[in-house]
Amino acid sequence: MKGDLEDFVQELQEKIYEETKAAYGEAAFQRWLNPKYHGRMDDADGYARVRGSCGDTMEIFLKFEGDRVGAALFDTDGCGSSAICGSFAAEMSLGKSPDELLDLTGEAILERLGGLPEEEQHCAVLAGETLQEALSDYMLKQTRKTDVPSERG
Ligand code: FES
Repeated sequence: MKGDLEDFVQELQEKIYEETKAAYGEAAFQRWLNPKYHGRMDDADGYARVRGSCGDTMEIFLKFEGDRVGAALFDTDGCGSSAICGSFAAEMSLGKSPDELLDLTGEAILERLGGLPEEEQHCAVLAGETLQEALSDYMLKQTRKTDVPSERG
């Protein structure tokens, strides 16, 4: 009896895996199984939290080493696709300068993934927007750091 249940669960899992792979492609499927770069950072140089049109939120944390991203993490309360896209956004930002980060839009993430079903493409847009907001946060902080207070008197 127990063996029947285990077989059933195993078959169900394999079916879900096959359907997911067919719908999302190999790269996204592997990332769904193992969403790398998931986590939070206390000392991020650039941070953003954005709520998408679907109501889900994405957070991106960037830590710079010199003028390049040395570490990046994402967190989301959204769907499986948002975790895949957040994971790719974090990975794609590694080693990039602020100028290069400007190219990491939702479109670039979709391209890296090999596409997503149309109804889930906004998840990539959310990841791209959050990354751009985290970059803006970093740039703003840099500007503040270099602002020399004017001398009085
Ligand atoms: Fe909301 Fe994917 S991020 S449905």
